[in-house]
Amino acid sequence: MVLSKIKLMAPVFKVSVFVSGGGSNFQAIMDAAIEGVRIVSVICDRPGARAIDRAKAAGVPVETVDRSLYESRGDFEAEILARLAPCDPDLIVLAGFMRVLSPEFVKRFEGRIVNIHPSLLPAFRGMNAVRQALAAGVAEAGCTIHFVDEGLDTGPVITAARVAVEPGDTEQTLSEKIHKLEHKIYPEVIGKLARGEIRLEGGKVKVS
Ligand code: GRF
Repeated sequence: MVLSKIKLMAPVFKVSVFVSGGGSNFQAIMDAAIEGVRIVSVICDRPGARAIDRAKAAGVPVETVDRSLYESRGDFEAEILARLAPCDPDLIVLAGFMRVLSPEFVKRFEGRIVNIHPSLLPAFRGMNAVRQALAAGVAEAGCTIHFVDEGLDTGPVITAARVAVEPGDTEQTLSEKIHKLEHKIYPEVIGKLARGEIRLEGGKVKVS
């Protein structure tokens, strides 16, 4: 009886979420309670980040790896790898993680790291993307989820969501609108990745 039950249980898809700040995307992913997905760890590079409190409140193991304590990116990433090893994640989700991962790190998790960026990529890569969009006077803004490669916000795009820029929008109002989109699409994409419906094959995004 017990054995047949065990056989029927689908394997859990383990996700580690990397954060640096507020952690609202982490929260949205948790709250979505995606079937078959377990958030096994949160890695944060900034002590005191609100995301740490959110992880604790959600009962998710959180590891703070303070970048300022490590001389090199290699040392910093070696520590992250050591903290990740016990939970052996299937997927790393960057959710407001403000560090660029090394090519070695990316290679190790090839096709298994995704990021969300608050612009319609390839426009406005890097820092202050919403400010950049407003300064450019675009009519539409949004967010993009992509597989991570060695570049800054350059990896193969999985999906994007759009919102109109309205007269009077400020960096804050537009960021809030974009966050709402992020909170909707990130859990959806993670569910699809967990089910194998989105994959990276030969450097290209495959959707089935
Ligand atoms: C999001 O806008 C995301 O696109 C960007 O960083 C922000 C993180 O927000 N990469 P939060 O920490 O999830 O609230």
